[in-house]
Amino acid sequence: MAITKVRRSLLVSMVMVFFFFNVHHLQVMSSPHKEKKSCTNKDRKLLEFPLNLEYLEAEFFLFGALGFGLDKVAPNLTMGGPSPLGAQKANLGPLTRDIILQFAWQEVGHLRAIKKRVKGFARPQLDLSKESFANVMDKAFGKKFVPPFNPYANSYNYLIASYLVPYVGLTGYVGANPKLECPSSRKLVAGLLGVESGQDAVIRAMLYARASQIVHPYNITVAAFTNKISELRNKLGKAGLKDEGLMVPKADGAEGKVIGNVLAGDESSLSYDRTPEEILRIVYGSGNESIPGGFYPKGANGDIAKLYY
Ligand SMILES: *[C@@H]1O[C@H](CO)[C@@H](O)[C@H](O)[C@H]1NC(C)=O
Ligand SMILES: *[C@@H]1O[C@H](CO)[C@@H](O)[C@H](O)[C@H]1NC(C)=O
Ligand SMILES: *[C@@H]1O[C@H](CO)[C@@H](O)[C@H](O)[C@H]1NC(C)=O
Repeated sequence: MAITKVRRSLLVSMVMVFFFFNVHHLQVMSSPHKEKKSCTNKDRKLLEFPLNLEYLEAEFFLFGALGFGLDKVAPNLTMGGPSPLGAQKANLGPLTRDIILQFAWQEVGHLRAIKKRVKGFARPQLDLSKESFANVMDKAFGKKFVPPFNPYANSYNYLIASYLVPYVGLTGYVGANPKLECPSSRKLVAGLLGVESGQDAVIRAMLYARASQIVHPYNITVAAFTNKISELRNKLGKAGLKDEGLMVPKADGAEGKVIGNVLAGDESSLSYDRTPEEILRIVYGSGNESIPGGFYPKGANGDIAKLYY
């Protein structure tokens, strides 16, 4: 009997030690758990910010290929945000239309993928009117043109207008990646970056094939015009050289060996990165993240953009 009692109390204390150890162990484990929570909030803001660009791309490509946008194909994804201004069906040849339609559906997938991971925000007011694009092109060229540039007039102009779009998103994903703390966030951003840079590469390759043709109404070649757009973005971003046209001085080409520049990259041919602030300066067309305008007449949405206006 006595032995059994001793045994029993030994057993009880062993169980208690075990239990205590486990509780203690759990408490030790809970501090990285807290970190994970704060990382999720920082990651959330960084994952939500690109929705601004994904909305723009989705609407521009959907309208360009189909003549209607998210309100018709995926109204939930807008979360009640206003319809884009001035977007319209573009007069595209069969190959360009086929490719742009693929891009359009890819952007719908991107919006859904981001919102699966974070709550997100409503579609911001977008201005996709011809005037909005003509303003950017005139600013890049350095002179107002009449009749104005019309992105929806033909495949050509539409591709040049598209040159404005995925590249900025791409640099944003490159910039966001090292700031993300959770592996699942980095996985999402790597997946978005892969397709975004693929879109940019397709657009650039199609334009590269037409590099020496003349852009109306500007009377300069496609290659020269892409250089002007890239120069404008470098100027607005205020962070040095992060953007390159389709033909560059040899020193800026891959390994300093070539002037053809179908893909933009730094001296090691790595993609350039941009911060959200640099992106806002560019897409607002104001060079100032506190002064909305351009494609976002009322400003971009979400915690990061709203810090500034
Ligand atoms: C949109 O909302 C409907 C009904 O509320 C829901 O069944 C559907 O899954 C939602 N779709 C998306 C893409 O969120
Ligand atoms: C276009 O530019 C070329 C040379 O740069 C010039 O010779 C030509 O006159 C210009 N055409 C128009 C319509 O301005
Ligand atoms: C950006 O705009 C804000 C608001 O107008 C202004 O206070 C700020 O000085 C501007 N920043 C720069 C760098 O011009």
